[in-house]
Amino acid sequence: MTARRTRWQEAGNSGNYGKRFAELVSAGEDVDGEARLADTLLPRGARVLDAGAGMGRVTAALLRRGHDVVAIEPDEALVRQARETYPGLPIEGRDILDLGPDDGPFDLVVCVGNVMLYLAEGTEREALRAMRAVLGENGRILVGFHLQDRPPHAHAYTAAEFEADLTAAGLRVALRAGTYQLHPANEVYGVWVLDCAQDEAGRQPPARRP
Ligand SMILES: C[S@@+](CC[C@H](N)C(=O)[O-])C[C@H]1O[C@@H](n2cnc3c(N)ncnc32)[C@H](O)[C@@H]1O
Repeated sequence: MTARRTRWQEAGNSGNYGKRFAELVSAGEDVDGEARLADTLLPRGARVLDAGAGMGRVTAALLRRGHDVVAIEPDEALVRQARETYPGLPIEGRDILDLGPDDGPFDLVVCVGNVMLYLAEGTEREALRAMRAVLGENGRILVGFHLQDRPPHAHAYTAAEFEADLTAAGLRVALRAGTYQLHPANEVYGVWVLDCAQDEAGRQPPARRP
């Protein structure tokens, strides 16, 4: 499948974001908040997909914690930035929509830092289904994005719309919080841990079509 141009690509955002985070990393600033929460969700040496990895900061932090991580990122400039900032980082120039079951199974898919707000228009359910399809048994998805004070060009995605989309994709909310330190849910930022919805017999059914 040829993926559609993402809102991120349409906005031409990669330069500023990539450079800003590369500078923070070289200044020794803490950019590992999302990865610390991801790490607490995982057994040691787990298999993780960083979906929309940007300049690779979350992947790098999870590799340092001993996990087996694959990063995918469709923006070529960010793939270059990731390789420059973290030589040897396992990052592929790919889109979430191009994932297939053969890419898994993963214990956790990390989809943080507003990735859900920068997908190609109208592809939210498809992206959620694609991430669900690569989960292993008891696999989960960690998602985080701004509900208010969104960056320019980001999709105005409400928590209710997101939760309707994840339900349609055969997922359910295991946890919702307001920060990566698990402060209570709020209307400013959303952090979700998702797992596969189960039927009454406890089986995990395939994702439903809308
Ligand atoms: C603000 S950046 C965040 C990057 C990274 N997750 C982080 O937290 O540092 C948003 C990212 O979403 C990515 N993105 C948007 N749509 C995507 C898609 N369909 N597949 C994979 N990545 C996508 C963009 O290319 C961009 O790197």
